Amino acid sequence: MTDLLHHDAFVDWFRNAAPYIHAHHGRTFVISFGGEAVESPHFSDLIHDIALLSSLGIRLVLVYGIRPQVEQCLHGKSRYINGIRITDTPALKCVKAACGTVHTEIERLLSMGLSNSPSSNIRIHTASGNFMTARPVGVRDGVDYCYTGKVRRCDSVAITRQLDEGCIVLIAPIGYSPTGEIFNLRTEEVARTVSIALQAVKWICLTENKGICDETGKCVPQLTEKEAQDWLIQEHSLACKKQLSNAISACQDGVQRVHIVSQCKGALLLELFTREGIGTLISTDAFEHIRQATIEDVGGILELIKPLEQAGILVHRSRDKLEMEMNHFIVQERDGMMIACAALYPFRDMAELACLAVHEHYRGERRGDALLDFLERRALQSHITQLYVLTTRTAHWFQERGFLAASLDCLPVSRRALYNYQRNSKAFVKQLYSSPEKSNSNSPRGS
Ligand SMILES: CC(C)(COP(=O)(O)OP(=O)(O)OC[C@H]1O[C@@H](n2cnc3c(N)ncnc32)[C@H](O)[C@@H]1OP(=O)(O)O)[C@@H](O)C(=O)NCCC(=O)NCCS
Repeated sequence: MTDLLHHDAFVDWFRNAAPYIHAHHGRTFVISFGGEAVESPHFSDLIHDIALLSSLGIRLVLVYGIRPQVEQCLHGKSRYINGIRITDTPALKCVKAACGTVHTEIERLLSMGLSNSPSSNIRIHTASGNFMTARPVGVRDGVDYCYTGKVRRCDSVAITRQLDEGCIVLIAPIGYSPTGEIFNLRTEEVARTVSIALQAVKWICLTENKGICDETGKCVPQLTEKEAQDWLIQEHSLACKKQLSNAISACQDGVQRVHIVSQCKGALLLELFTREGIGTLISTDAFEHIRQATIEDVGGILELIKPLEQAGILVHRSRDKLEMEMNHFIVQERDGMMIACAALYPFRDMAELACLAVHEHYRGERRGDALLDFLERRALQSHITQLYVLTTRTAHWFQERGFLAASLDCLPVSRRALYNYQRNSKAFVKQLYSSPEKSNSNSPRGS
């Protein structure tokens, strides 16, 4: 019986993950990780997961760090000023040696392909080159940073050519100058520049932390670019601030999503293929983003839902009722105009999804899906395991998103008491799962 349940859960999960495996196909992701990840006993698992992503047709650029390897080579004689390494001649020698070691280790592991799987005969090709051009940091406040450099540019055409050939591109934290010198660069700076130059859909920044954590140590699942900026002015660790400002600048320059994720075992797959993810996602909100509604949104929502109420698709809500229920609503604006809304009413471990509406001019672009996704994530965070909806004309839309027809007995008693028999809406219920094995969700975080 337990086995059967496991099988069912797996089949459910696979069916729901499949469209997103398809969605990631052909997209470019930049994945950066520090030299610490290379030292970890789970590094081979990480590279195996990267090989798996590549076999799914995701175009991958890996940017690796070498800090602990250089430290080791210098036997603790590293010099840092203002958090920046001074790369003198002995340090540069160690940088070159560390790049060689880490690079070959990654290539070695990728050469194993997807061992122990039916795809073990898949050959994974890697490519590298002089993609990064650098210049010296120079002399600052009298301190010569020697071979510590700054990124000047990245040869996106050459990288794209290698990606088109189906290679995983490996990029070291070093750059070359037109004068023939080598410079040691910061991994995050390289990864950010590459993500922007390639206009990558995602930059996944694997770190030693869980992600961006709040004062209680809890990882913040999602921040818009604007929210991330607000975080920067609050009290947070320097490492967290650096990661955030890199993420914001990448978003501002066209990278749609930056994921700050722990480099622990399995984290990469959990982040990409589960709804809640495991780290922090920072996403662009150039024109519109979904946010909690406030009392100022009542007018916009009334205008948006009025035609739907008149057509009998949505039940009528008075201004007073809306004002009282604003905390249940989320909204989406575009250029100051309200274009979508939805509400979530919790009843213990169930919640009603209601008043889902997208302005007719903006339909068919998956905004409905995005709102549903947002509310499902919010529900899961509040330990809600079932969503239900009452609908007269939108049944198929919900069914196609994992809702199943249910009898009114499935609704909370207090809600059943309010059921309008004249309206005769049909009830649909969706089970929410938070773990990947059980996930029945339709829109994982990775999309
Ligand atoms: C239902 C609604 C929220 C979907 O928003 P959206 O942003 O257009 O949704 P998406 O882009 O994610 O999905 C579009 C798909 O849903 C389908 N769809 C739209 N309305 C539908 C309906 N009433 N029944 C079934 N499918 C529907 C579209 O045909 C399209 O599918 P296709 O691309 O295969 O043709 C939007 O159509 C709407 O506001 N409808 C009026 C209000 C409503 O019915 N709300 C639900 C109240 S219970």
